[in-house]
Amino acid sequence: MKDNADGRHPADGRHPADGRRPRDWIWDVIVCPECGNDIRLGENEQALVCTNDACGYRSERTGRAYNLLPLEIDRFKQAENDFRTEAIERYADAAKQMTRTGYTTYKLLNVLTDFFFTSEYLFFRDTFAKKYNLEGRGLEIGGATGQHSGFLKLFYPATEMVMSDVAPVNIALAEELADLVGFQTDYFVVCDAEQQPFRPGSFDFMFSSGMLHHLGDLQRALRQGHCVLKPGGRWYIINELSIGAIPRLYWNSRWGEKGKWAEVARIRENSYTLQEWKRFFTEEGTEEGFRIVDMYFHTNPAHKLRNWQRSAYYAFISRLPDAVLKMGIPCEVCFVLEKAQREKAQREKAQREKAQREKA
Ligand SMILES: C[S@@+](CC[C@H](N)C(=O)[O-])C[C@H]1O[C@@H](n2cnc3c(N)ncnc32)[C@H](O)[C@@H]1O
Ligand SMILES: [Zn+2]
Repeated sequence: MKDNADGRHPADGRHPADGRRPRDWIWDVIVCPECGNDIRLGENEQALVCTNDACGYRSERTGRAYNLLPLEIDRFKQAENDFRTEAIERYADAAKQMTRTGYTTYKLLNVLTDFFFTSEYLFFRDTFAKKYNLEGRGLEIGGATGQHSGFLKLFYPATEMVMSDVAPVNIALAEELADLVGFQTDYFVVCDAEQQPFRPGSFDFMFSSGMLHHLGDLQRALRQGHCVLKPGGRWYIINELSIGAIPRLYWNSRWGEKGKWAEVARIRENSYTLQEWKRFFTEEGTEEGFRIVDMYFHTNPAHKLRNWQRSAYYAFISRLPDAVLKMGIPCEVCFVLEKAQREKAQREKAQREKAQREKA
């Protein structure tokens, strides 16, 4: 991206010449999701246009929210939007007499008082924030209502966050929530994690919570994440399920939780064993791969307030040693991946191959 001399994006000429308003750094990181060329503002402040005339990609922004969805998304990704819309409309009856602004507050109160939200906050405050130090530029994918980016900014003020999700309605809600709660999330982007509109090497870290299992092409999303991270950058993955191949048969059947749930919601719900997760991250995802620098089971029942059955289940399995959980007991798992430096990765690969040859 070419900046003019005073450090402002040329197309974003509305910035006051006195430089009081900081330059919008989002222009440093976004690109066209279709061809990877620069994006510029079009004929007005809302239009986003690809600078490659042959590509012709156009979209729009509203305030801090940039829509950079690919031209085509599959029905599962579309269903994520319907899913949230239906969840919001479920409250419509009770909200008949509310004013427009009242309805927004009401909607957000429903998010804030969700036990999911409480559990996520408690986990973040009591576990995550104590474990890691984060700084620099971060990207959250599949962030839904955006609370995790809000928590990241709160606990790590030295970060800058782009929060993203494939469903436009989620991004709208995330912006409203940030305004209500005072979350300092810098930018909101509607985008597909499998076709990311970001320049290679843009981010110091990535964050995803409970979203990787929604992807149809996890390997592609891993390659994209690998690409947009700086060398040595980390990807913090929380709230995924690890489940043994045998319990999974039941889980995915129409009697199991996943089977029942996926049918109703029409969204994609994959489930993986611990070995499959590890293999995706270290072998199949990318040419150079990620290194898994941390992995832990998240069993704290106090962070599983979604319902008492879940909490009771985790109270039980939290007593089991990791070695037993690793055997395939369904359990929430978190990972930290590190983008290997190319040379280092090649060295490690050569060592692995050498060890294998020696074993054979
Ligand atoms: C189970 S929700 C998790 C939301 C949030 N991260 C949390 O932990 O509460 C999964 C999210 O992934 C999003 N999602 C699904 N497929 C996606 C894709 N291809 N790219 C980006 N986001 C996606 C959905 O819209 C949804 O908000
Ligand atoms: Zn383009």
